[in-house]
Amino acid sequence: MNKQVHITEVVLRDANQSQIATRMPRSDFEGILETMDKAGYYSLEVWGGATFDSCLRYLDEDPWDRLRFIRSKVKNTKLQMLLRGQNILGYKHYSDDTVRAFVRKSVENGIDIIRIFDALNDPQNMATAIDECLKAGGHAQGTICYTISPIHTFEKYVELGRTLESMGCNSLCIKDMAGIMSPQVCYDLVSALVKEVKIPVYVHSHSTTGLGPLTLMKAVEAGAAGIDTAISIFSGGTSHPSTESLVYALDEMGYDCGVDLKVCQAINNHFKPVQARFLKEGGLNPSVLTTKIDALNYQIPGGMLSNLIAQLTAVDKLDKLDEVLAETPRVRKDLGYPPLVTPMSQMVGVQAVTNVLTGGRYKNISKEVKSYLRGEYGKAPGEVSQELVKLALGDEKPIEGRYDDTIEPEIPGAKAYLGSLAESEEDVLSYVAFPQQAEAYLRERQEKKALKVSYSIEEAE
Ligand code: CO
Repeated sequence: MNKQVHITEVVLRDANQSQIATRMPRSDFEGILETMDKAGYYSLEVWGGATFDSCLRYLDEDPWDRLRFIRSKVKNTKLQMLLRGQNILGYKHYSDDTVRAFVRKSVENGIDIIRIFDALNDPQNMATAIDECLKAGGHAQGTICYTISPIHTFEKYVELGRTLESMGCNSLCIKDMAGIMSPQVCYDLVSALVKEVKIPVYVHSHSTTGLGPLTLMKAVEAGAAGIDTAISIFSGGTSHPSTESLVYALDEMGYDCGVDLKVCQAINNHFKPVQARFLKEGGLNPSVLTTKIDALNYQIPGGMLSNLIAQLTAVDKLDKLDEVLAETPRVRKDLGYPPLVTPMSQMVGVQAVTNVLTGGRYKNISKEVKSYLRGEYGKAPGEVSQELVKLALGDEKPIEGRYDDTIEPEIPGAKAYLGSLAESEEDVLSYVAFPQQAEAYLRERQEKKALKVSYSIEEAE
């Protein structure tokens, strides 16, 4: 048999995001990149998702620089990123010109594969990014966000797979961000997709509920082209099934993962002290490492669960966690069952926390929920609560047609505003994506440079 199975190592992006809130600085992995390039992975997921925001906000790093650095060390393995379609890496919809420029620059700076998803599974929200990725010579991976709800049927998923294929995607990904896809459902869904579409199907899951490794194994048995895993020290819990364990098991079953377990050992040894430091300093909360069956009931993705814990801990209300976990599915139903993935997971999570802590449902409605109800995020998968629409919007009517067509181009204004602060188109895009964080970063960079110049003048004197 020896059927090939592609392994995507996600330690630098999703494991980093799911276990330690994306706080891993470049210094923690720069020394191991060349070794990672030799492991035999199909791809390394290294960028996108929350990494961009986190670089600017917490790590004092230029995200583009991080990507170029990784590319300079990883010469053979494909580099992969996660992109939220029309949201790019932010939390709102951007204009088409921004989406196109961002996608093109991502490919130019070293990305091979862009996994493009939309929180609502609305193909219209993925179309611009897919089109530009293909034009830029990248591999466009169209994504099906897996969720459980009365309106998310098997047929709907297969139909979405066909649509994404017809849009030109090079592959498909079933994205189980909450780790709630059972092994049997995964087997049936992958089997159906493999039968109905010609492009390869990849499966992404999390270990949150303990189903992850079983689900990935069934994915492979059903004919998936590849799976996502995390190096063992950063695997498990809200993160992903362990790379070494899956490779070990699959190779023994006669599959060919192409991954060298000896090299994995070296990679794992490198990350052990990193993990130990995060654990010691509190950046890694041990509670995210255990199996939480609650997610099967509440469908809380890994990142969302740790965010809810963090939010409640910050206001000393962790005792309200059970109430918030019960409120979450109710808010979701009111919003027409959006899958719980960024930015919908934050939107639903924050609203659920607000509903519990203010002692009354929808006493405060967030700006984001109002925008969503107005139609600024695309089409809701199901019926939204008309009562809530009335409460949130009053007499205002939701938008008809494609909201993105109404967004003015953002780049010219940003360029003019930044002036000499921006040294490249990438700087401008950072600002468009995250204005506050990017401006603070760019100002600090300029000050540091000015300081350096004055030092060297002094030295010269
Ligand atoms: Co994920």
